[in-house]
Amino acid sequence: MASKTFSMKLLFSLLISSFAIMIRMATAGDPDILFDFIAPPNVTVDENFFTFTCMRSLIGAGPPTTFKVSKASMTEFPALNGQSISIDVLEFPAGSISPPHTRVRATGLLFLIAGSLQVGFIDTTNKLFTQTLQTGDMFIFPKGLVHFQYNAGMTPAIAVAAFGSANAGLVSLPNTLFNTSIDDNVLALSFKTDIATIQHPKAGLAPNL
Ligand SMILES: *[C@@H]1O[C@H](CO)[C@@H](O)[C@H](O)[C@H]1NC(C)=O
Ligand SMILES: *[C@@H]1O[C@H](CO)[C@@H](O)[C@H](O)[C@H]1NC(C)=O
Repeated sequence: MASKTFSMKLLFSLLISSFAIMIRMATAGDPDILFDFIAPPNVTVDENFFTFTCMRSLIGAGPPTTFKVSKASMTEFPALNGQSISIDVLEFPAGSISPPHTRVRATGLLFLIAGSLQVGFIDTTNKLFTQTLQTGDMFIFPKGLVHFQYNAGMTPAIAVAAFGSANAGLVSLPNTLFNTSIDDNVLALSFKTDIATIQHPKAGLAPNL
């Protein structure tokens, strides 16, 4: 029963997200293309090329157990190439987080369709704008600014995020800073700490071997 309510909400969200996408198209961010659409070579262009069915698996799937992102960008859905739009469906179990990140090529418009969600972004003057969203609320993350989402509630939260680019370009700060081969000394100096301290978050993010 709970799962049915959940999937109805998801279905509703997917319908509404189409609306959000239309709004995004009015301020599209990718370069204009000189064709009606762009198709990869050796792809049959018929109505199926313009249809994305992978989100069907979310309908009726029940609440998530870990933070999960289901993407429809030009990688998963090649017909989006050149059309300046993409969406993610975000599922947050209670207590889960989408760590601070930016999308370098697109504004994000988040529509919360189940649960409540703490969201925030930091502008270029280092000012934090944070809000606790209720089901039905939308929040905008201006292009390129660092932002996060956190489900501080006791129930799952689901959001649909629409982007003004077919390839919004995710940069996750924990991953970028502590899961690459940036020299430990550079990080220690940057964070005004020592190398041992820097190695702590690095160990947490390293792939499990
Ligand atoms: C397209 O298909 C043709 C014929 O099978 C093949 O020769 C060609 O390499 C393919 N091109 C690409 C880009 O896959
Ligand atoms: C850290 O980087 C590795 C290699 O790119 C990747 O497999 C792993 O998922 C990353 N860890 C996190 C927490 O993103």
